[in-house]
Amino acid sequence: MHEIEIKNLSKSFVDKDTKVDALRDINITVDKGDIFGIIGMSGAGKSTLIRCINYLEKPTSGQVIVEGKELGQLNEKELREQRQDIAMIFQHFNLLQQKNVIDNIIFPLVLQGVKKKEAREKAFELLSKVGLEDKAKSYPSQLSGGQQQRVAIARALAADPKILLCDEATSALDPQTTASILTLLKEINKEYGITIVLITHQMSVVKAICNKVAVLEEGQLIESGRLEDVNLPEDKFFWLNKENELKNKEFEKAGIKEVRNYVG
Ligand SMILES: Nc1ncnc2c1ncn2[C@@H]1O[C@H](COP(=O)(O)OP(=O)(O)O)[C@@H](O)[C@H]1O
Ligand SMILES: [Mg+2]
Repeated sequence: MHEIEIKNLSKSFVDKDTKVDALRDINITVDKGDIFGIIGMSGAGKSTLIRCINYLEKPTSGQVIVEGKELGQLNEKELREQRQDIAMIFQHFNLLQQKNVIDNIIFPLVLQGVKKKEAREKAFELLSKVGLEDKAKSYPSQLSGGQQQRVAIARALAADPKILLCDEATSALDPQTTASILTLLKEINKEYGITIVLITHQMSVVKAICNKVAVLEEGQLIESGRLEDVNLPEDKFFWLNKENELKNKEFEKAGIKEVRNYVG
């Protein structure tokens, strides 16, 4: 059984007299333990696609099957339960600004009915996992972007998800911080066996940690498969390569080994 199966998925946004075909006939399978990258330019449909995986966005047609369950067949309660297995992190972290770090992590646990004491213990454990034990009482505005994303990762892990969705999670970060966050994601993938679906417009991110990749262009998948098998459209990503050369240097410094040079 695949962990995630997307079958013939299409999504259109209709607004008065305009219609945008954001996704057209997408087919993807993600297996347990994958770090699956979806890469594409801005407007390609990446966010729409990742939001379909937890049904925050409902497909116009097609199916999303997660852990063997077709999300379109679930009622509201079942969908809520299923979503507990799927966590998400974002480009701009989405932390609660008026709560300190530890409370940001505790908050979703308490909402789920976990007892305060237990939630606190778990939150501290996760905070240590992401290397921020000393920031428990800080507020998001007192943290760097990389630290905020670490808090968001700790919060995402609090409910013991099986799947972590990352929507441009490193796009607001500098190359060095990007590398350290990617290292953390890879650790989490290995240590907890969490399947990661990561969307990005940066080829360097895909090459640093993904084992599989899909290329999305104007709502259509133009390539998909194991990283080493996929023919990445070099010309279209030319400008990204320039940026990547810089980032690759940072990755090497951070000890990420699986960086390959991007030559056709
Ligand atoms: N809620 C929405 N209403 C109307 N159009 C939308 C909506 N969300 C996304 N779109 C459109 O769908 C296309 C894909 O958007 P998006 O998935 O955000 O792309 P990406 O994340 O790759 O930049 C874009 O043309 C965008 O304008
Ligand atoms: Mg997006």
